[in-house]
Amino acid sequence: MKVLVTGGTGYIGSHTCVELIKSGHTVEILDNLSNSKEESLDKIEKITGTRPKFHKVDLKDYEKTLEVFESENFEAVIHFAGLKAVGESVEKPLEYYENNVGGAINLLRAMRETGVKKLIFSSSATVYGDQGAKAYSEEMTTGVGITNPYGWTKSMIEQIIRDFSRAQKDFSATILRYFNPIGADKSGFLGEDPNGIPNNLMPVVMKVYRGEIPELTIFGDDYETEDGSCRRDFIHVTDLAKGHIAALENMENGTKVYNLGSGKPTSVFEVISLFEKISGEKLPVRIGKRRAGDLSEFWANPELAKKELGWETELDVEDAIRDTLNYLKNLS
Ligand code: UD1
Repeated sequence: MKVLVTGGTGYIGSHTCVELIKSGHTVEILDNLSNSKEESLDKIEKITGTRPKFHKVDLKDYEKTLEVFESENFEAVIHFAGLKAVGESVEKPLEYYENNVGGAINLLRAMRETGVKKLIFSSSATVYGDQGAKAYSEEMTTGVGITNPYGWTKSMIEQIIRDFSRAQKDFSATILRYFNPIGADKSGFLGEDPNGIPNNLMPVVMKVYRGEIPELTIFGDDYETEDGSCRRDFIHVTDLAKGHIAALENMENGTKVYNLGSGKPTSVFEVISLFEKISGEKLPVRIGKRRAGDLSEFWANPELAKKELGWETELDVEDAIRDTLNYLKNLS
């Protein structure tokens, strides 16, 4: 299929482009490079031998977005482009709603205008909010107890997509709810390279390991979990990327929703000790206060994706850490 990947130079987008090309699909990328670099294209080319055509366009610009759709014949869109820093979204709610929700609306308009009928959307487990549950399944309520505008944008876009696909004849949408993506492509050329100060656990661990941040603060060791730290469903980014291929190849009319997770939680302490074991280096760590909005533990019920898409994770947290270290070795 000829697929447009929005946000295709970013972390998850670029890994998905690699897997799409490896599966024989034709990929074009639309990105405004606000949190990624054009060098991602070199890396994708180095790994796959194919350089995706690139459109440097901001989805907030409807005219330019439409031009891209009018000049190409896409069969499907995978939509990653969006702002994703939770803390920043609390500081700048309007930017998040304008960029994420506004961008998604422009994208859907351009798809409607040019008759593109397949969409995969990059959503997040954050849409489940806080329900006191631990294992989340797709049929559970969403949009209750979300603590930040970033999470709300994901929830709102899901709703917009459901309404849009109901109103459009022959439209297929698949919403993928990611748990905690970590790791890097096994080639060592492609990984997570966020601009600025990272918030998520693994990018912080990476910077501490490289000496760019003096120490890792663990946000709370007094949770009601076995070791007192939070537990998350960490998923290797390559498994996650492959989930998109499985979704693309199993689309049907209407909207489908799938969790992409492993179903197995790992605690923050466990991640750190695995990182130390595999790297052979001790990380400077201190225990800090709980971070506002953090849930003690949650993971995916991944059964639906297994049953309907034939997809399940093949890699684990140790693989993700090994691939992350391999990627760090190649960074200058
Ligand atoms: C976060 C977002 C979620 C988003 C996801 C993207 C919040 C509340 N949630 O999930 O909406 O979809 O990222 O991947 O921000 N930790 C530390 N020290 C650090 C960084 C993290 O101890 O320096 C801990 C956190 O407290 C948490 C765990 O590591 O327990 C994972 O944190 P993180 O990687 O930020 O992911 P989530 O908070 O699960």
